[in-house]
Amino acid sequence: MLRLQRALPERYTSASPQQLAAWIAAAKERLGSALLVLGHHYQRDEVMRWADARGDSFALSRLAAEHHEARYIVFCGVHFMAESADVLTGPDQQVILPDLNAGCSMADMADLDGVEEAWEVLADTTDIERVIPVTYVNSSAALKAFVGRHGGAVCTSSNGRAVLSWALLPDADGRRRADKVLFFPDQHLGRNTGYQLGWTEADMRVWDPRRDAGGLDERDVKEATLLLWKGHCSVHQRFRPEHVAAFRAEHPDGLVVVHPECAHDTVEVADQVGSTESIIKAVAAAPAGSVIAVGTEIHLVQRLDAETPDKTVVSLDPLVCPCSTMYRIDAAHLAWAVEGLVDGEVRNRISVDEETAGWARLALQRMLDIT
Ligand code: 13P
Ligand code: SF4
Repeated sequence: MLRLQRALPERYTSASPQQLAAWIAAAKERLGSALLVLGHHYQRDEVMRWADARGDSFALSRLAAEHHEARYIVFCGVHFMAESADVLTGPDQQVILPDLNAGCSMADMADLDGVEEAWEVLADTTDIERVIPVTYVNSSAALKAFVGRHGGAVCTSSNGRAVLSWALLPDADGRRRADKVLFFPDQHLGRNTGYQLGWTEADMRVWDPRRDAGGLDERDVKEATLLLWKGHCSVHQRFRPEHVAAFRAEHPDGLVVVHPECAHDTVEVADQVGSTESIIKAVAAAPAGSVIAVGTEIHLVQRLDAETPDKTVVSLDPLVCPCSTMYRIDAAHLAWAVEGLVDGEVRNRISVDEETAGWARLALQRMLDIT
């Protein structure tokens, strides 16, 4: 999705790192508790050093909602995270994304038109009342609202299992809420969670939004329990079983921890799989002297290595590839955003309309009730 970030004034593009740091520090000092800077784990260090809180996408949105005194929330992360923060915060809080081009290529792989079209096709093929839509938190507010409207829930990389169990497994009275889940936008998180819950390949079909009827025939739809949207994260999809094999050959006692956005064949050969928060916990729990290969975004991997001097933390893929959209947020954009606030100008506000926000909030609330 194209979002237009205007070019920064020369004051910021030609400033030295020291100047930018001094301007950010001064703006933070002036704004005090009215400003809350949030930093996602994948942010670069020059940005992360200014974060009042670090965390995964959902933890940061919740934190924003708890800080009522913060009139301005500068979200150093990507677009869908800033939207979630806006959905969860009060009307007198404003959320700012320092660079509008910081999107998430995976979130952009499913849009409202495509999902509505899929829903219509499914309604012609199967009893739509028995289908629940589930969206990964990496999705637009419009899709979260779609899910809210159709009785579904959001999930994160740490609670996908609980949400799919809620949708598909029998409750205490032996009743199942639905027979099928349409899961978007990340096929890998859906597939990995499905396998964890005991489903097999035969229970899953990939819905390809670029093909007619998702590329599926009536029988596919009828047989599938999990309809997995054909989306992926280009950063996590790079981690392959060959990387695990190469690491194990060099470090037979090493530990391999990967994010569930990695493909299933990689997850299968890893020692542990989990969200960014669980990866951090896995590194903390490993004994001193451990060598740990991590399959996630490089900035988190490097930070874990620097902050855990008694362990060695390396990227599972030696030819690392950062998340290019997370990387768009730099000290210059942060300085531009916070200096704007000092001057009374809110730059790059991310605002979700009330109708969409209401339904999206419902889908997020269902997730919280489930987990
Ligand atoms: P978290 O939800 O763990 O923050 O991950 C977000 C993300 O973009 C992973 O690629
Ligand atoms: Fe999106 Fe992947 Fe970047 Fe996460 S790492 S923000 S899923 S593109």
